[in-house]
Amino acid sequence: MTSAVTPVLDQPQVIEVQPNGDMDGATRIYKKHLGDMSGIYVDEAAYQAQVAEKGAEELIYYVHEHKYQDGPGSLIVGTSTLLPGKVGDEYAVTRGHIHAQENRAELYHCLSGHGLMLLETRSGESFVAELTPGKAVNVPGHWIHRSVNVGDEPFVTLFCYASDAGQNYDIIAHANGMKTIIVDDGEGGWKAAPNPRHGGYAAGDQ
Ligand SMILES: [Fe+2]
Repeated sequence: MTSAVTPVLDQPQVIEVQPNGDMDGATRIYKKHLGDMSGIYVDEAAYQAQVAEKGAEELIYYVHEHKYQDGPGSLIVGTSTLLPGKVGDEYAVTRGHIHAQENRAELYHCLSGHGLMLLETRSGESFVAELTPGKAVNVPGHWIHRSVNVGDEPFVTLFCYASDAGQNYDIIAHANGMKTIIVDDGEGGWKAAPNPRHGGYAAGDQ
């Protein structure tokens, strides 16, 4: 007689997601403050002035995550809420990353606000996805990605990616920022501009 081992399957989950990014039952919530954004913005003097004025604890963005499974094939679902603002002429951004497992893709679906997903590859390709509620961007593997808030309200996205993807933030730091920055166009809108500090990305593991 043989005994079969019955795997214990994780249970389906219904997640209630609000337009402001609130989710019930998050398994992890993290916040980034102004003091965490050192070296991110091109105008260092404007950044330091803002830290002096608002304090290092000023909230910049926060993330709710739902991770109910581990291992290949499982997903992390969550929301990212990036508050509006500028440092110098540059619109508020998240730190940005490429996935540690670089072939892992990600979906971002805008729930509220007006923002961009700024996308670049190690080889120098750039893509700007403008997002308003109802629009989504499919970020393929091997693309560095960062959110930018170009509106007056919080920019909220629902994201979904493989739970074994991981994040590599150093790729942007080592290049002295992304190749493209998003700045005020002088008329209340936004434009993409070259980052004068960008030194190019190192070759990767593609
Ligand atoms: Fe990601």
